[in-house]
Amino acid sequence: MKNKPSVVMMGLGYIGLPTAALIASRGLKVNGVDIRENVVETINQGKIHIVEPDLDGLVHKVVKEGFLSAATKPIPSDVYLIAVPTPFKENHEPDLTYVASAVKSIIPTLTKGALVILESTSPVGTTRKMEALIFKERPELKGNIYLAYCPERVLPGNIIYELKHNDRAIGGIDKASTQKAISFYKHFVAGELHPTNAKTAEMVKLVENASRDNQIAFANELSIICDKAGINVWEMIALANKHPRVNILNPGTGVGGHCIAVDPWFIVSEFPKESALIRKSRETNTYKTQWVIEKIKNEALLFKQEKGREAIIACMGLAFKPDIDDLRESPALLVNDTLITEGLKVLSVELNLESESARKLTSSSEALQQADIIVFLVSHKEFKNITVSENKIILDFCGVTNN
Ligand SMILES: NC(=O)c1ccc[n+]([C@@H]2O[C@H](COP(=O)([O-])OP(=O)(O)OC[C@H]3O[C@@H](n4cnc5c(N)ncnc54)[C@H](O)[C@@H]3O)[C@@H](O)[C@H]2O)c1
Repeated sequence: MKNKPSVVMMGLGYIGLPTAALIASRGLKVNGVDIRENVVETINQGKIHIVEPDLDGLVHKVVKEGFLSAATKPIPSDVYLIAVPTPFKENHEPDLTYVASAVKSIIPTLTKGALVILESTSPVGTTRKMEALIFKERPELKGNIYLAYCPERVLPGNIIYELKHNDRAIGGIDKASTQKAISFYKHFVAGELHPTNAKTAEMVKLVENASRDNQIAFANELSIICDKAGINVWEMIALANKHPRVNILNPGTGVGGHCIAVDPWFIVSEFPKESALIRKSRETNTYKTQWVIEKIKNEALLFKQEKGREAIIACMGLAFKPDIDDLRESPALLVNDTLITEGLKVLSVELNLESESARKLTSSSEALQQADIIVFLVSHKEFKNITVSENKIILDFCGVTNN
């Protein structure tokens, strides 16, 4: 590997842009590629199109210094990284069309000795499919290029730090590819680089998220059982966790975001018979959100029967997890929107958003004053010391009033 290899970064989203900027900050020339022209233009102006702490300054610096430039097409380079979306289709099957089209667009630019690394979360076997695609069009490259898979496990909100410091599992299609990829990541990663094969690295990423999903499903199931048994689930879990080898997670409104709620399906769709527990965890977490909706509707019905008028419901928190503004796949948002669609009187509160194009937001204090039923959906830190007057009904699905 050259002292300062040139790099193409395919996909300039939440993963691709911070990665491209970090690599460029190490003095490597990076050609960032995205199919969205407005994204390319924004980056070439030294600006960013996503929300991520510390990223704007870094992108501004590396673009100004000439180490990062964006385009809609790749140029021949030493290393190619791919971080394009891998959503699932209606039937929960992975949709690999973005990966395939990114691979197709780099194929004409590949030269002998190139290293291609897939970072998109992908079903097991995707790196081999990428290999087949490349060699079908360029058979002369067989044995002459390197291919590897290296999953990304950063936490949005802390991406720059984690990109640099997290350990990474790096799996090539052969040992030479693994070694080549490890030498490349050494340019910008301080965490440990663990060699493995492509299949294992692909599975590692899926299993990390399936494991979180499974543990949350256990907590969510307990919350439903405890509700029926008249037990405070938060107190019960806190006490169970006093056991030195027990560590139960907190239940919530469901599971959201674009990773934990998506990636386990990549295992289920490929190994349907063998993945009963993984599928059940997904279903349990999805069901939990519906259960929350039913609980709120029942409470609203009781209120109407008792008071002779519709209850005003405050939905406290819309994001998919505490202390962020990200609404993607958010169960809290689904609860809020379902109640509105079904005609209930809802005040939507999300402190981490100043405004929201699709729905009207109400301030926390106004909602607490106006609403009859206060529903805590996300345990944002601001909700922890909130005082709710005694005549209000509280439904706490995230344990924020138990702190
Ligand atoms: N965001 C996260 O926190 C996170 C964490 C770990 C793993 N991942 C995985 O990383 C991958 C990328 O996720 P993301 O959050 O960065 O997605 P994103 O949607 O933010 O960005 C993807 C970018 O790729 C571009 N793109 C699509 N097709 C392209 C093509 N053919 N050529 C060039 N660019 C193309 C899109 O325009 C978009 O800008 C996914 O597989 C995701 O599951 C994401």
